[in-house]
Amino acid sequence: MNYFKKILRFAKPYRIYALLNIISNIFYALFSTLAMISLFPMLNVLFKQTEKIYTKPEWTGISNLKNYVTDTLNFFVTEQSEQSDPGEVLMLMVGLIITMFLLKNLFNYLAMYFITFLRNGVLKDLRNELYDKTIELPISYYSEKRKGDTIARITSDVLEIQHSFLSILELIVREPLTIIFTIAAMLAISPKLTLFVFLFLPLSGFLISLIGKSLKRKSDKVQNEQGFFLSILEETLGGLRVIKAFNAESVFAKKFQSSTKRFFNFSNSLLNRQNLASPTSEFFGIAAIGVILWYGGQMVLVDKTLEAELFITYMALSYQILTPAKSISKASYSVKKGNAAAERVLEILETENPIAEIKNPIELTSFDSDIKLQHISFKYEDEYVLKNFDLTVKKGTTVALVGQSGSGKSTIANLVTRFYDVNEGEISIDGNNIKNLSKKSLRGLMGLVTQDSILFNDTVKNNIALGKENATEEEIMAAAKIANAHDFIMELPKGYDTNIGDSGNKLSGGQKQRLSISRAVLKNPPIMILDEATSALDTESERLVQDALEKMMKNRTSIVIAHRLSTIQNADNIVVLQKGEIVEQGTHTQLLALNGTYKKLVQMQSLAS
Ligand SMILES: Nc1ncnc2c1ncn2[C@@H]1O[C@H](COP(=O)(O)OP(=O)(O)O)[C@@H](O)[C@H]1O
Ligand SMILES: [Mg+2]
Repeated sequence: MNYFKKILRFAKPYRIYALLNIISNIFYALFSTLAMISLFPMLNVLFKQTEKIYTKPEWTGISNLKNYVTDTLNFFVTEQSEQSDPGEVLMLMVGLIITMFLLKNLFNYLAMYFITFLRNGVLKDLRNELYDKTIELPISYYSEKRKGDTIARITSDVLEIQHSFLSILELIVREPLTIIFTIAAMLAISPKLTLFVFLFLPLSGFLISLIGKSLKRKSDKVQNEQGFFLSILEETLGGLRVIKAFNAESVFAKKFQSSTKRFFNFSNSLLNRQNLASPTSEFFGIAAIGVILWYGGQMVLVDKTLEAELFITYMALSYQILTPAKSISKASYSVKKGNAAAERVLEILETENPIAEIKNPIELTSFDSDIKLQHISFKYEDEYVLKNFDLTVKKGTTVALVGQSGSGKSTIANLVTRFYDVNEGEISIDGNNIKNLSKKSLRGLMGLVTQDSILFNDTVKNNIALGKENATEEEIMAAAKIANAHDFIMELPKGYDTNIGDSGNKLSGGQKQRLSISRAVLKNPPIMILDEATSALDTESERLVQDALEKMMKNRTSIVIAHRLSTIQNADNIVVLQKGEIVEQGTHTQLLALNGTYKKLVQMQSLAS
């Protein structure tokens, strides 16, 4: 229940609905008891048992409640039957019963009506907060977690919680109240008989809790498995091309089927356990009623201490107690499931973002002098990827990072953009440690183009406009022209309004990359970071993209990570990395003259091409 309690704060804005629900439920409980009691005068009329009472009974205190109520009802019936014929009295009684049931159901509806706003409000707010958290959490979080699992938590776990919000109010307000009102009425009719009900309630409560014990664990398993198979689905859709090309359909299908099989087993056992609830409580209820029938029947027939009509009303009441008892057991399961779901949702919500912002961070709006990496060391997991690394990038210069794959080039891009935080040392922009800058202003200074262009299922225009809020069509077009994208965009069926498909898959690699560059150009940041922006391209589109990049880098500060060395020959400083350390740096000519690692790399590449 602890997790669920924490989720309760999401219900706070909607507490007025909870209140209205509680009020409606009080009336519901009241009228469901009155509905049963209204059977009594009806039976009296039917069996012509009405004691004639000609004077209005007087209220003498709560201890005399039962007599007062029966006398009043009898007085009412007497009065009515003196005035009109039995048929009409009967009609009146039937009318009374129907009215009571109508009111009961009206308040039932109202209770559900109000709680609907709370449930769906919680659902909406919880999803929104989860989504915000999903965006806020650093890249590193998702290299460890499965995406599908996060999706499962935002979709189905949240639904589970929404569902249990209904149950929790049923559990603590509606059903207990119904039981209390009903028991009060039963006590008024016969305290002796009611003793049996008191024996039965705790006993069935105990049995129900036995069934519910392992429910959270089971439900946990089911939800986890759901996350797992969503992950497989997500990966399958993302890698469909490779799966088909490698004939790996059966591998993935097997993986998926083994997950759905586990899901099948887990949810069978969960559902079967859950389904035990109603039958058990109904059976124990009927067993208790059997005892009451036997005992009460004797009171009516043998001892003659109870009137038959009262006994029938009493039976109706005690049957009525079964419904809430069943609902309570069901609701308590639902709350347990909600608790398991809440745990999974809170796990995301309560994950601390390791890339935190300080209080009152600096909002840097311009870049004036340099980016400095001073004595930085960094590791993703156990092994240091960068050790005591130093680098200065002066405003207006282009620094190229070269080196074998795995030497730590992309890591530097990750650190400068603060996707990760350094373990030691500091990175500063114009003398401000980037940890003291707001992330928004830091990233506002930078444009990033990576090897794989990240595009969204939307129009060309909107994909480019991501770089700048409220960009005009002219600005978008100007950016596309600089990025050598305008011409091919105009050839698309709907020009700038063409939808480019999921991840831009309706375009070629070079076209996609030129859209990414258009986006960066539109953003127009003072610092550009290019991480192997052309290495996924063929020579023809590489030439177009390279040309676009050079136009973009003009008058800017750039950190360029290049696979193909021919593309960075004009850089002001070329830094050669090896296993996270700088082995050489200088201009192209200086480095060739050194006759070291750089020269070897250049020779290797010219041999290859
Ligand atoms: N998210 C990550 N988690 C753990 N290790 C990583 C991660 N990303 C990269 N690495 C490791 O860090 C090292 C440097 O990687 P990277 O900077 O991407 O190299 P490259 O120079 O090819 O861009 C590699 O050994 C790689 O295995
Ligand atoms: Mg890399």
